[in-house]
Amino acid sequence: IAILPTDYTIRPLRRSDFNRGYLDVLRVLTTVGEISEEQWNARFDWIASRNDEYYMLVICDGDDRVVGTGSLIVERKFIHSLGLVGHIEDIAVEKNQQGKKLGLRIIQALDFVAAQVGCYKSILDCSEVNEGFYIKCGFKRAGLEMAHYY
Ligand code: ACO
Repeated sequence: IAILPTDYTIRPLRRSDFNRGYLDVLRVLTTVGEISEEQWNARFDWIASRNDEYYMLVICDGDDRVVGTGSLIVERKFIHSLGLVGHIEDIAVEKNQQGKKLGLRIIQALDFVAAQVGCYKSILDCSEVNEGFYIKCGFKRAGLEMAHYY
Protein backbone atom coordinates (compact mmCIF):
# COMPACT_ATOMS: atom_id res chain seq x y z
CA ILE A 1 0.00 0.00 0.00
CA ALA A 2 1.36 3.39 -1.00
CA ILE A 3 1.20 6.09 1.69
CA LEU A 4 0.78 9.70 0.56
CA PRO A 5 3.44 12.23 1.59
CA THR A 6 2.43 14.39 4.59
CA ASP A 7 -0.14 17.07 3.68
CA TYR A 8 -1.03 15.41 0.37
CA THR A 9 -4.65 14.39 -0.16
CA ILE A 10 -6.53 12.17 -2.59
CA ARG A 11 -10.12 13.01 -3.48
CA PRO A 12 -12.64 13.15 -6.35
CA LEU A 13 -12.09 15.78 -9.04
CA ARG A 14 -13.87 19.08 -8.37
CA ARG A 15 -15.13 21.76 -10.73
CA SER A 16 -12.75 24.23 -9.05
CA ASP A 17 -9.74 22.07 -9.99
CA PHE A 18 -9.69 24.04 -13.23
CA ASN A 19 -7.90 26.69 -11.12
CA ARG A 20 -5.66 24.21 -9.30
CA GLY A 21 -3.56 23.12 -12.25
CA TYR A 22 -5.53 20.04 -13.26
CA LEU A 23 -5.11 20.50 -17.00
CA ASP A 24 -1.37 21.10 -16.61
CA VAL A 25 -1.05 17.71 -14.93
CA LEU A 26 -2.80 16.11 -17.90
CA ARG A 27 -0.28 17.82 -20.18
CA VAL A 28 2.42 15.39 -19.00
CA LEU A 29 0.32 12.70 -20.64
CA THR A 30 -0.63 14.20 -23.99
CA THR A 31 -1.95 17.23 -25.85
CA VAL A 32 -4.77 18.90 -23.96
CA GLY A 33 -5.36 21.97 -26.09
CA GLU A 34 -6.71 25.30 -24.91
CA ILE A 35 -9.82 24.75 -22.83
CA SER A 36 -11.80 27.73 -21.53
CA GLU A 37 -13.36 27.70 -18.07
CA GLU A 38 -16.80 27.63 -19.71
CA GLN A 39 -15.88 24.56 -21.75
CA TRP A 40 -14.40 22.94 -18.66
CA ASN A 41 -17.56 23.58 -16.67
CA ALA A 42 -19.79 22.10 -19.36
CA ARG A 43 -17.69 18.95 -19.62
CA PHE A 44 -17.28 18.67 -15.84
CA ASP A 45 -21.06 18.92 -15.32
CA TRP A 46 -21.73 16.24 -17.94
CA ILE A 47 -19.22 13.89 -16.28
CA ALA A 48 -20.57 14.68 -12.82
CA SER A 49 -24.08 13.76 -13.99
CA ARG A 50 -22.77 10.24 -14.77
CA ASN A 51 -21.74 9.77 -11.17
CA ASP A 52 -21.97 5.97 -11.15
CA GLU A 53 -19.96 5.66 -14.34
CA TYR A 54 -17.11 8.18 -14.11
CA TYR A 55 -14.76 8.20 -11.11
CA MET A 56 -12.07 10.83 -11.51
CA LEU A 57 -9.53 11.24 -8.73
CA VAL A 58 -6.83 13.80 -8.02
CA ILE A 59 -3.92 13.98 -5.62
CA CYS A 60 -3.21 17.47 -4.25
CA ASP A 61 -0.07 18.69 -2.52
CA GLY A 62 0.01 20.67 0.74
CA ASP A 63 -0.81 23.89 -1.15
CA ASP A 64 -3.91 22.23 -2.68
CA ARG A 65 -2.38 22.16 -6.18
CA VAL A 66 -3.28 19.13 -8.28
CA VAL A 67 -0.17 16.98 -8.80
CA GLY A 68 -1.66 13.71 -10.01
CA THR A 69 -4.81 12.27 -11.50
CA GLY A 70 -6.48 9.15 -12.84
CA SER A 71 -9.93 8.03 -13.98
CA LEU A 72 -12.05 4.90 -13.85
CA ILE A 73 -14.94 4.49 -16.28
CA VAL A 74 -17.33 1.67 -15.47
CA GLU A 75 -18.72 -0.13 -18.52
CA ARG A 76 -22.00 -2.02 -18.12
CA LYS A 77 -22.10 -5.23 -20.17
CA PHE A 78 -24.59 -7.96 -21.05
CA ILE A 79 -21.93 -10.66 -21.08
CA HIS A 80 -20.67 -12.28 -17.88
CA SER A 81 -24.15 -11.98 -16.38
CA LEU A 82 -24.42 -8.21 -16.79
CA GLY A 83 -20.78 -7.84 -15.81
CA LEU A 84 -19.07 -4.53 -15.11
CA VAL A 85 -15.62 -3.73 -16.52
CA GLY A 86 -13.44 -0.91 -15.23
CA HIS A 87 -11.49 1.14 -17.75
CA ILE A 88 -8.52 2.94 -16.24
CA GLU A 89 -7.70 6.08 -18.18
CA ASP A 90 -5.52 9.19 -18.12
CA ILE A 91 -3.12 8.44 -15.30
CA ALA A 92 -0.72 11.34 -14.90
CA VAL A 93 1.67 12.62 -12.25
CA GLU A 94 3.36 16.02 -12.58
CA LYS A 95 6.99 15.59 -13.68
CA ASN A 96 8.67 16.84 -10.53
CA GLN A 97 6.34 14.70 -8.37
CA GLN A 98 7.03 11.41 -10.11
CA GLY A 99 8.72 8.62 -8.16
CA LYS A 100 6.87 9.35 -4.88
CA LYS A 101 4.40 6.49 -5.32
CA LEU A 102 1.62 8.90 -6.29
CA GLY A 103 0.88 6.95 -9.47
CA LEU A 104 0.69 3.74 -7.47
CA ARG A 105 -1.63 5.40 -4.94
CA ILE A 106 -3.96 6.57 -7.73
CA ILE A 107 -4.15 3.07 -9.25
CA GLN A 108 -4.77 1.51 -5.83
CA ALA A 109 -7.61 3.96 -5.21
CA LEU A 110 -9.18 3.33 -8.63
CA ASP A 111 -8.80 -0.44 -8.15
CA PHE A 112 -10.56 -0.14 -4.80
CA VAL A 113 -13.47 1.77 -6.37
CA ALA A 114 -13.70 -0.73 -9.24
CA ALA A 115 -13.90 -3.67 -6.83
CA GLN A 116 -16.42 -1.85 -4.59
CA VAL A 117 -18.79 -1.08 -7.46
CA GLY A 118 -18.58 -4.71 -8.61
CA CYS A 119 -16.25 -4.73 -11.60
CA TYR A 120 -14.89 -8.21 -12.34
CA LYS A 121 -11.75 -6.72 -13.89
CA SER A 122 -10.12 -3.43 -14.82
CA ILE A 123 -8.23 -2.90 -18.04
CA LEU A 124 -6.06 -0.17 -19.53
CA ASP A 125 -3.91 0.63 -22.55
CA CYS A 126 -0.38 1.88 -22.11
CA SER A 127 2.90 2.21 -23.94
CA GLU A 128 5.78 -0.23 -23.43
CA VAL A 129 7.66 2.34 -21.32
CA ASN A 130 4.92 2.18 -18.69
CA GLU A 131 4.59 -1.60 -18.59
CA GLY A 132 6.87 -1.88 -15.54
CA PHE A 133 4.79 0.66 -13.64
CA TYR A 134 1.55 -1.23 -14.22
CA ILE A 135 3.17 -4.56 -13.37
CA LYS A 136 4.17 -3.01 -10.01
CA CYS A 137 0.51 -1.98 -9.66
CA GLY A 138 -0.58 -5.62 -10.10
CA PHE A 139 -1.58 -5.60 -13.78
CA LYS A 140 -0.40 -8.06 -16.38
CA ARG A 141 -0.09 -7.91 -20.12
CA ALA A 142 -3.29 -9.19 -21.78
CA GLY A 143 -4.13 -8.94 -25.45
CA LEU A 144 -3.22 -6.32 -27.97
CA GLU A 145 -4.41 -2.75 -28.35
CA MET A 146 -5.73 -1.59 -31.71
CA ALA A 147 -6.85 1.91 -32.66
CA HIS A 148 -8.70 3.57 -35.52
CA TYR A 149 -8.19 7.33 -35.54
CA TYR A 150 -10.73 9.67 -37.18
N1 ACO B 1 8.75 1.70 -15.79
C1 ACO B 1 9.04 0.82 -14.80
N2 ACO B 1 8.74 1.07 -13.49
C2 ACO B 1 8.18 2.26 -13.19
C3 ACO B 1 7.89 3.22 -14.18
C4 ACO B 1 8.18 2.91 -15.53
N3 ACO B 1 7.90 3.76 -16.52
N4 ACO B 1 7.33 4.30 -13.56
C5 ACO B 1 7.30 4.00 -12.26
N5 ACO B 1 7.80 2.77 -12.02
C6 ACO B 1 7.90 2.06 -10.74
C7 ACO B 1 8.54 2.91 -9.66
O1 ACO B 1 9.92 2.83 -9.69
C8 ACO B 1 7.92 2.31 -8.42
O2 ACO B 1 8.60 1.10 -8.14
P1 ACO B 1 9.04 0.70 -6.62
O3 ACO B 1 7.71 0.49 -5.90
O4 ACO B 1 9.82 -0.53 -6.79
O5 ACO B 1 9.76 1.87 -6.08
C9 ACO B 1 6.51 1.93 -8.85
O6 ACO B 1 6.58 1.79 -10.29
C10 ACO B 1 5.48 2.98 -8.50
O7 ACO B 1 5.87 4.20 -9.09
P2 ACO B 1 5.24 5.62 -8.69
O8 ACO B 1 6.21 6.43 -7.91
O9 ACO B 1 3.90 5.41 -8.09
O10 ACO B 1 5.10 6.26 -10.15
P3 ACO B 1 4.78 7.77 -10.51
O11 ACO B 1 4.08 8.45 -9.40
O12 ACO B 1 6.01 8.40 -11.03
O13 ACO B 1 3.72 7.59 -11.70
C11 ACO B 1 3.37 7.44 -14.07
C12 ACO B 1 3.97 6.79 -12.82
C13 ACO B 1 1.87 7.70 -13.84
C14 ACO B 1 3.53 6.50 -15.24
C15 ACO B 1 4.10 8.78 -14.28
O14 ACO B 1 5.44 8.52 -14.58
C16 ACO B 1 3.53 9.66 -15.39
O15 ACO B 1 2.66 10.49 -15.14
N6 ACO B 1 4.03 9.51 -16.63
C17 ACO B 1 3.64 10.35 -17.76
C18 ACO B 1 2.19 10.10 -18.18
C19 ACO B 1 1.91 8.65 -18.50
O16 ACO B 1 2.62 8.02 -19.28
N7 ACO B 1 0.83 8.10 -17.88
C20 ACO B 1 0.41 6.72 -18.09
C21 ACO B 1 -0.39 6.64 -19.34
S1 ACO B 1 -1.22 5.08 -19.54
C22 ACO B 1 -2.81 5.31 -18.94
O17 ACO B 1 -3.18 6.41 -18.63
C23 ACO B 1 -3.78 4.15 -18.79
